[in-house]
Amino acid sequence: MNTLLEVNNLTKSYRIGYRWLIPQYQRALGPVSFKLEEQQTLSVVGNAGSGKTTLARILVGAEQRTSGQILLEGEQLEVRNRQQRCSLIRMIFQDANTSLNPRMRIGNLLEEPLKFATDMPSKDREKEVYNKLRQVGLLPEHAHFYPHMISGGQKQRIAVARALMLDPHIIVADEALSVLDMSVRSQVINLLLKLQNEMGLSYIFVSHNINVVRHVSDQVMVLDQGKVIEFGDAEQVFNHPENDYTRKLLYNLGH
Ligand SMILES: Nc1ncnc2c1ncn2[C@@H]1O[C@H](COP(=O)(O)OP(=O)(O)O)[C@@H](O)[C@H]1O
Ligand SMILES: [Mg+2]
Repeated sequence: MNTLLEVNNLTKSYRIGYRWLIPQYQRALGPVSFKLEEQQTLSVVGNAGSGKTTLARILVGAEQRTSGQILLEGEQLEVRNRQQRCSLIRMIFQDANTSLNPRMRIGNLLEEPLKFATDMPSKDREKEVYNKLRQVGLLPEHAHFYPHMISGGQKQRIAVARALMLDPHIIVADEALSVLDMSVRSQVINLLLKLQNEMGLSYIFVSHNINVVRHVSDQVMVLDQGKVIEFGDAEQVFNHPENDYTRKLLYNLGH
């Protein structure tokens, strides 16, 4: 199988202040190591403050790591320029309500990544926007709408379409599923699975609620205070959790 992402001994520490003029650091994450293969889904679960968002932000290049190595399709993350990196790995944000600019039409919101990262002429950009709207189950007409004119579920589809604009290989979704109500969530999950099959995408789903990702993961990583306390095939982790903390996450249905 084709390894898209390889992470070795990744750590992140934040400076939390000074004591006797000496900077004090707190380890927020790590060490974390894993591999993500083509068309696979890795879920990262853990309680609030366990380091999930820190990991997601480092992977998409929104945050610097403290130490460790990240190989994106075999090359060091920083060897690739920003544009290349953006088109390989994209993030879907938690709340489509706040991540979509309310003053922009959906067509322009979707077009933005193409303007920023390609020199595609405007006619082709328009075509690409219509393509992606269709892929996420929306209509060309939606391009002319503003975000407030569509439902929460449709907004989440727009967030997915926006992440897809540059045809990435990996999508990182930080709590993007946890915030949706149950019926919308299963629609969005079905859409993501369909896209995974069609485009060979790999996903990293980040969630504080292990049950949200239960049926869609190939592998599961459980984080507690920045440390990996359990990692393995989803079936193994869900059916025979080794750690008490994982068991608590599993049986604590809801939140
Ligand atoms: N910018 C920051 N500065 C200092 N500490 C931070 C910063 N961002 C996150 N942290 C700390 O790192 C830890 C992990 O946070 P985070 O990755 O957001 O956890 P999660 O997404 O699992 O809730 C927490 O203790 C948090 O307070
Ligand atoms: Mg978080």
